[in-house]
Amino acid sequence: MYWGPLLLVASAVMRGAGAAQLRFSCAQLVVDRLDPIVNPGELPSPHLHQIVGGNAFNASMDHNAHDISTESTCSSCVFTEDRSNYWTAVLFFRARNGTYKRVETVGNGLGYQKSNGGQTVYYLSSGKVTAFKPGFRMTVGNPAYRTKADAQKNPALQFTCLQSSTTRTGYRFDFPTELCKAGIMVTVRFPTCWDGQNVDSPDHQSHVAYPVNRNCPSTHPVKIPEVFYETYWDTRPFNDKALWPADGSQPFVWSFADSTGYGNHGDYVFGWQGDALQRALDANCQSDLLSDKVNCPTLKQQTIPESNKCTVKRRVKEDLDGWLKVLPGVMA
Ligand SMILES: *[C@@H]1O[C@H](CO)[C@@H](O)[C@H](O)[C@H]1NC(C)=O
Ligand SMILES: *[C@@H]1O[C@H](CO)[C@@H](O)[C@H](O)[C@H]1NC(C)=O
Repeated sequence: MYWGPLLLVASAVMRGAGAAQLRFSCAQLVVDRLDPIVNPGELPSPHLHQIVGGNAFNASMDHNAHDISTESTCSSCVFTEDRSNYWTAVLFFRARNGTYKRVETVGNGLGYQKSNGGQTVYYLSSGKVTAFKPGFRMTVGNPAYRTKADAQKNPALQFTCLQSSTTRTGYRFDFPTELCKAGIMVTVRFPTCWDGQNVDSPDHQSHVAYPVNRNCPSTHPVKIPEVFYETYWDTRPFNDKALWPADGSQPFVWSFADSTGYGNHGDYVFGWQGDALQRALDANCQSDLLSDKVNCPTLKQQTIPESNKCTVKRRVKEDLDGWLKVLPGVMA
């Protein structure tokens, strides 16, 4: 189901001219216990996230009260008109003595090594697609999932055990069970069909749908670009089996206390300024998938070192950097 970047190149050739492939780096904006989609206004939210994008990110982002495309003054993404926010849960390492250490994100091994962590974002299209409307938001995946059968309902949420920083094989739905020499990559891909009406829904998912036999279903007839994340988790400091559980099981756990990995999920709030995203899609902008070059003259760009400067202060005061007795927000 997953297209690695090399396959993406091939598929773009096969799909012909009417395809856009925006791939770009977004540095870490903040790591905080906020979730303005699922737990708006809650300080703190139930579990920890890593967030990238515009600096208007906050505990509450009700679209009737906040236009993040104009409220934010910078973006941690290289496309400066992109004031969207993108986030995922946070990975922790669990030591033999039961304490937890937060795993850091690092720049993507394919071209974005200068990024101060964060994640890579893609917008992919084939043929005419409709960009998101102001206020649009969605989530994919479910933090309550703990079985492969559940995880397979979202076939595009996966883990890759990086043997080198460019490994793009061996996708799986749960945490890798072996040492991953260059870290763990987590992939999150969102559905590509929209109901054409609602910028959100009560479960933050049912206003979008996956295509059926490559076509959008009649309930969700509008083709939207495919939003797709790759996050590099730097598990290298923990690559010592003497630190792993004595029974040989893998030691990583999501911030919502999931040690299977099946609860993988992602969140998206659209915030591109004006029609910048639609213009880039209509222009069939293409990224060089192996470097930091993006051939998209219609979009304003900053360098990755410039994007690293856009950060926000953590709002929830708690220790995230020591060896923690409990995961932030999770009952012991
Ligand atoms: C977040 O919201 C609070 C309360 O409304 C406000 O004081 C703060 O400045 C906001 N932070 C950002 C980064 O917008
Ligand atoms: C738990 O284990 C980690 C990793 O070995 C170590 O750094 C930490 O000091 C230990 N904490 C306690 C309370 O023993």
